Amino acid sequence: MEQASLHASMTAHEAQGIDHVFELCANEMAAVDQLIRDSLDSNVVLIRQIAEYIIGSGGKRLRPMLVLLAARACGYRGNHHVTLAAIIEFIHTATLLHDDVVDESELRRGQDSAHAVWGNAASVLVGDFLYSRSFQMMVAVDSMRVMEVLSNATNTIAEGEVEQLLNMHDPEVTEASYFSVIEKKTAKLFEAACQLGAVVTGRADLETGLATFGRELGVAFQVADDVLDYTADADTLGKNVGDDLAEGKPTLPLILTRQYVGEEQRSMIDEIIRKGGRDRIEQMVHLIRSSGGLEDSKAVARKRSAAARESIASLPESAWKDALLDLADYSVSRNH
Ligand code: IPE
Ligand code: IPE
Ligand code: MG
Ligand code: MG
Ligand code: MG
Repeated sequence: MEQASLHASMTAHEAQGIDHVFELCANEMAAVDQLIRDSLDSNVVLIRQIAEYIIGSGGKRLRPMLVLLAARACGYRGNHHVTLAAIIEFIHTATLLHDDVVDESELRRGQDSAHAVWGNAASVLVGDFLYSRSFQMMVAVDSMRVMEVLSNATNTIAEGEVEQLLNMHDPEVTEASYFSVIEKKTAKLFEAACQLGAVVTGRADLETGLATFGRELGVAFQVADDVLDYTADADTLGKNVGDDLAEGKPTLPLILTRQYVGEEQRSMIDEIIRKGGRDRIEQMVHLIRSSGGLEDSKAVARKRSAAARESIASLPESAWKDALLDLADYSVSRNH
């Protein structure tokens, strides 16, 4: 399974022209994958089944790669970055298990989502298992500072998801409110991943730059995800498209479009957000495209990705730094 998942990651990266980034950290990523697998150990068969089901189905492994690259870009020479990378992927995986229950999403990483196979209760509980296992793994790193960064990150992610819940079916959700949610639910984990590279190296002077890099990249990444939810096809994306509209979730493409159109179309959008559902998706995709909401959302993603790149300008030049810069580009140019 390890080989299969590594292969899946590699082909996915090749398609987007970041295979060189994957190759740069291939050995260490293999160690991360091994640690992930070793850490799934439990006497409860269902836990192993579900955890292996979602972890074995691949995923881009972007966050653990960022941990490794950030640490190496800071000059790190130890082994703790591998543990931290596995921890970050565990936390990410836990949020995905929970997210698909909350969003009622049926497809994840190209296969039936875990709750579609085992039910909501099992998905939520195994998500909790992964969360708590990640905290057990943190003990091995034996650093209060690491604990601080990761406990803050997980708490903020939960806060963001609840904040988003309050925005559901609300057509008046503002851009400010949207960005507040995505900074918490998505960007915070990217921020922690990159910041930890400096923390584990003991380079306090590099922490802010890398934290900002991760946060800006994370915002760009989520805006791109929200664009893909309208524009991608399910086979490439590995998730169903139109999930956001179906659950009545106003994301940036929709928020901007609502600002650009006239009164009549605005009330139509409001009604769709209030009701949710998939029946008007094609009409909305058309409107989002023709109004400029889609292009402007992409422009926002590119701007935040450029801000990410800018924030590590003072990091010493290295292949690791170049790879970080390439991942900032990839976060917005990706098609899955
Ligand atoms: C999905 O993240 C959740 C979001 C923040 C949009 P990824 O797109 O990184 O998911 P995987 O790990 O590659 O499947
Ligand atoms: C990101 O938002 C979710 C998390 C940070 C867990 P989405 O709900 O848009 O993520 P996808 O599209 O389902 O992967
Ligand atoms: Mg979702
Ligand atoms: Mg969600
Ligand atoms: Mg999404």
